[in-house]
Amino acid sequence: MSNTSLTRYLVEQQRTHGHIPGQLRLLIEVVARACKRISHAVNKGALGDVLGSAGTGNVQGEIQKKLDIIANEVLIEANEWGGHLAGMASEEMEGIHVVPNRYPRGEYLLLFDPLDGSSNIDVNVSIGTIFSVLRMPEDDRGVDEGDFLQAGTKQVAAGYCIYGPQTTLVLTVGDGVAMFTLDREQGSFVLTQEDVRIPEDTKEFAINMSNMRHWDAPVKRYIDECLAGKEGPRGKDFNMRWVASMVADVHRILTRGGIFMYPWDKREPDKPGKLRLMYEANPMSWLIEQAGGAATNGRERILDLQPKKLHERVSVILGSKNEVERVTRYHTE
Ligand code: AHG
Ligand code: MN
Ligand code: MN
Repeated sequence: MSNTSLTRYLVEQQRTHGHIPGQLRLLIEVVARACKRISHAVNKGALGDVLGSAGTGNVQGEIQKKLDIIANEVLIEANEWGGHLAGMASEEMEGIHVVPNRYPRGEYLLLFDPLDGSSNIDVNVSIGTIFSVLRMPEDDRGVDEGDFLQAGTKQVAAGYCIYGPQTTLVLTVGDGVAMFTLDREQGSFVLTQEDVRIPEDTKEFAINMSNMRHWDAPVKRYIDECLAGKEGPRGKDFNMRWVASMVADVHRILTRGGIFMYPWDKREPDKPGKLRLMYEANPMSWLIEQAGGAATNGRERILDLQPKKLHERVSVILGSKNEVERVTRYHTE
């Protein structure tokens, strides 16, 4: 078993590759500490009075759960005083959160989905926190929403923390994907996997099948072919999984391969998809690519998309490379 803590990993990465300056290391450690606090709240559940609805709505028009709000507050409180950030943006806040004047202003921007998989909180199924780190544009004195609107290729760190049977932090700084498991006795994240790789082929897909009648033809074709199994054009049987927490579905794919899709559908034709580009699709797409997988919106690479709005939505197809390429081909041919 490795004895490498998150801190040691970050220090050693900086020593060998020079891509984790002090402020970025502090940022990642502070996010990890916030995730530890969220993990404790999640674990307490009913004992900590953290389950159920908060009775409020967010900018996406979704009902907020108590834990959505708690996780958002924990992340903001943990991050605003350290001097490593200029601003933050979250699924649960309509506008950006500029670091208050009483604290020094750093050079990074942090975006997060504080609690992903909200529908799973009350049923004791895995949920998580997703985050993405950008650099503040140079020569820019004020912080505004426009500063956040950078393509996913500009991320300098991205990851998620999954609160499941284990609490695991998954991170990339652009040099592969590493996983850290929370050791509750020691209270620290310990490196448990490095150089995570996703197999290029898979027999497992993840999609909410109840939306089938609303899908576009290319998605329908791909899933129909999977369902046809050995006797069909793919010549093999497929398995299906859908946790309804993107963190959990992505974590499974990073662990054993697979394809995840939350495509555009006809329910709300004007929306590009359900998932949000900046704090769900971008960080997850970068992790997936860093592990040898692929991520597209059916036509283009997600990381190349130029965001126009903070809470912009996007169609998401990600996971094992050959499968993602196949679905993307079905959309373009
Ligand atoms: P969030 O809880 O942050 O709003 O995100 C939920 C997302 C994602 O985690 C998951 O893949 C998807 O919504 C599940 O959607 P359905 O309930 O439509 O299956
Ligand atoms: Mn989410
Ligand atoms: Mn959320």
